[in-house]
Amino acid sequence: MKSKIITIDGPAASGKEKISKYISKKWKFKHLDSGILYRRLAYIFKNDEINTDNISDIKKKLKNINTLSFRKNKNIRSEEIGKLASKIAIYNPVRDFVNKLQYNFVKKNNKKQGFVIDGRDIGSVVFKNADLKLFIEVNAKIRAKRRYKQLIDSGEKSIYRKILKEIKLRDKKDKLRKYSPLIVPKGAYIIDNNGSLKKVIKEINKLIVEL
Ligand code: CDP
Repeated sequence: MKSKIITIDGPAASGKEKISKYISKKWKFKHLDSGILYRRLAYIFKNDEINTDNISDIKKKLKNINTLSFRKNKNIRSEEIGKLASKIAIYNPVRDFVNKLQYNFVKKNNKKQGFVIDGRDIGSVVFKNADLKLFIEVNAKIRAKRRYKQLIDSGEKSIYRKILKEIKLRDKKDKLRKYSPLIVPKGAYIIDNNGSLKKVIKEINKLIVEL
C-alpha cells in the first residue's frame, strides 16, 4: 500500500509542530519538519561565515554538503538562526536542496504507513499530490505570545514586543518571496488554531479517518 502524506503549512509559530507531533504519535506517521532543514543550513552558513547576501557563495557551499540531519537540536532553535533560515529560504538553490532531501526521506522510508510533513510550501510545492493538506491559521499576537513563552521556557532571553515585530516581518518575507511563497495550497483545509488544541485535533482526526 502506498504511504499516505499529510502536509501542514502555515506561518511562524502557528502550532504546526505540535499538531504534526500529535498526528505522528496518534496515527504512527513519520514526522518531517522542513523548517529544521532550513535552520540547519542557516546554522552551517553562520558557522562557516558564508556571505548569505551572495548566491554564488551559497551555491558553492551547498555543493560541499551531502546531507543534513533531520533531528531537532537546541543550537538551531534560536531566533537568530530562525531569522537567518528565513533569509536564505528566498533562494531557489537552497529550496531545491532542501526539497531533494525531503523527497529522498520519503522514498527511503516508504515502508511507513504515512508521513506528516510541515513547513511553508509542502502542500503547494513539495508534495502537491498529498492525501490531506492542512493550512494552519492563528493571529499574529497569539503566535507571538506562544513563541515568547516557548523561548522563555527554553531559557532564552526574550521580549514580547520584539517577538511580535519579528513574527510580522517573518510573515511578510514568507508571503512575498518569489519562490514558493507561503500560500494556502490548492485543496487545503484551513484550520483555525486560535483556540484550544483539543478542538483542532478533533477536527483533524475526523479528516484523517476519512483518508
Ligand atoms: O520558527 P518558525 O516556525 O518560523 O520556523 P521554522 O518552521 O523552523 O522554519 C524556519 C524558516 O525557514 C521559516 O521562517 C521560513 O522562512 C523557512 N521555511 C521555508 O521557507 N519553507 C519551509 N518549508 C520551512 C521553513
